[in-house]
Amino acid sequence: MIVDRQGRRFRNLRISLTAACNYACTYCVPNGKRLVAAQDELSADAMARAVAYLVEAAGIERLRITGGEPLVSPRLEPFLEAIGRLPLEDIGLTTNGQLLARKLPALQAAGIRRLNVSLDTLDPDAFRRIARGGDLDTVLAGLDAARAAGFRIKLNMVPLRQENLDQVLPLLDYCLARGYELRFIELMRMGHLARAGTDFQQQFVSLGDLLALIGDHHPFVQAEAPLDATALRYEIPGRGHFGIIANESVPFCRTCSRLRLSSTGWLHGCLSSGNRHYIGDLLDKPRHQALPALQRLLVKALGDKQDLAFSGGATVMKIIGG
Ligand code: 5AD
Repeated sequence: MIVDRQGRRFRNLRISLTAACNYACTYCVPNGKRLVAAQDELSADAMARAVAYLVEAAGIERLRITGGEPLVSPRLEPFLEAIGRLPLEDIGLTTNGQLLARKLPALQAAGIRRLNVSLDTLDPDAFRRIARGGDLDTVLAGLDAARAAGFRIKLNMVPLRQENLDQVLPLLDYCLARGYELRFIELMRMGHLARAGTDFQQQFVSLGDLLALIGDHHPFVQAEAPLDATALRYEIPGRGHFGIIANESVPFCRTCSRLRLSSTGWLHGCLSSGNRHYIGDLLDKPRHQALPALQRLLVKALGDKQDLAFSGGATVMKIIGG
């Protein structure tokens, strides 16, 4: 097992199935242009082999499928099929929900029980302004279908001071009423937001701001969370839980156990580092050649992790999927 000075190791793998997305969220792409799949994205088989090798070489236990938007990729079904036999504790998927209703059977057949759905507002106009693609009612219908099918659901919301701060309480009520856990994600300085002169400061809403806003309407207490969790969790007694991923206010680098693989075959040990390590060429090699080479790259990737706090990065969330 590869472990660093701080006792960190890779436990959670997030694999971006495609960089393509049917949204163009303002905090993700600066120019409003939707992303298309890169020419050189790995095949479903190669991605599945990457997961298998990483389970062995790094001790990966949990997998999350992200994007881009993973449900737009034609590789979703063959990939799910191919990873079906791997010894993973858990497989989750992060989606914007646009194609959720029609993909539910495939997700269910693959043993996926947990979904994270990104939803920044319940207001159709604000939805169009932020997501710049898709349709709010389709997401809500997808959520209803997923809930009816028995999925455990978390909603991700990125609060933006000038766009959707008025949606914090409505979204919280929406989630509490349905048994979803709402996760607020503090805006991160990713991609274009890492450069000077953006509206990061104007848009950023902190953990403290959120707790003050929620506390005026709901009594809450801090709740348990796993040691390597990214979210601080709170319980509103008798009603449910919510969480805050406070990258800026309460950095969690010290307990980070994440490894990311891009759809084009690059390993990222840290969102805050520009370093990445190509494994696409290893995936055609037999196991006894691939694993030692992979292990050398994993040592480098683990060394890319920050000691203390996320410090912003040119890496774009759209490619690596959060
Ligand atoms: N800061 C915070 N969250 C972000 N996401 C995408 N870009 C950013 C950013 N710059 C969120 C998406 C999705 C999750 C995977 O990451 O809204 O819910």
